[in-house]
Amino acid sequence: MNIILLGAPGSGKGTQSKLLVEKYKFNQLSTGDLLRSAIKSASEFGKLAQSYMNQGKLVPDDLIVQIVGEYLNLNKNKSIIFDGFPRTEIQATKLNELLENAKSELNFVLYLKINPQDLIDRLTGRRVCAQCGEIYHVHTKPSKNGDKCEVCDGSLVQRKDDHKEVILERLLEFDKNTGPLIEFYKNKEKLITVDAELSTENVFSEIQKKLSL
Ligand code: AP5
Repeated sequence: MNIILLGAPGSGKGTQSKLLVEKYKFNQLSTGDLLRSAIKSASEFGKLAQSYMNQGKLVPDDLIVQIVGEYLNLNKNKSIIFDGFPRTEIQATKLNELLENAKSELNFVLYLKINPQDLIDRLTGRRVCAQCGEIYHVHTKPSKNGDKCEVCDGSLVQRKDDHKEVILERLLEFDKNTGPLIEFYKNKEKLITVDAELSTENVFSEIQKKLSL
């Protein structure tokens, strides 16, 4: 089964993807995580991506489609959660082509719907493990180990793009480029809307119910 998690920055895509991976053995394709790995490796590709990400802008479609194509080639016949991809109609059309070429298909698009005002608190309070990527929040999900990760003891850090000015730009990018995909997938009868304002556990229950998992 192939699923897209569609939602604004901070709507809970990464959090829900990890729960689906743990319980149902999906493979998570997070374009944000792939880009952050490229930045860590200091490759030319990473440097280019970073220049967009630090400003809260979308990375150009051709670069994103290239890394997704490479990932799909390495993960044939697997159930994939697309976390943060596609974000433009061009990317959505390319994904369709990539899946068709792999004799696969898109099953559902889960739209994590949330009031934009809640997103600033979620994102400014987010901390992530620099080592394993586990996601925390200073108020709603603090680590029991203080500034260390409960899973691997790595250091918890704030993402560079989780500062208010960059967050506002990311939200604008979502409205302008990614928001239209809600209608795009509704018209293709793939869209399932989930109330992402509920607690993490209740959002996960709703997802399981709606997907009949
Ligand atoms: P990316 O890393 O994908 O960031 P994003 O889409 O902005 O999403 P986030 O990771 O910020 O949020 P999330 O929805 O995963 O929320 P999370 O679960 O962490 O992309 C970063 C950048 O890379 C982009 O800006 C762009 O530049 C580039 N990029 C990536 N993909 C691209 C593409 N396809 N095309 C072009 N450019 C691309 O949760 C957030 C916080 O809320 C956490 O602290 C969490 O604990 C808390 N939380 C989660 N759920 C709940 C809940 N139900 N109740 C209370 N708190 C909750």
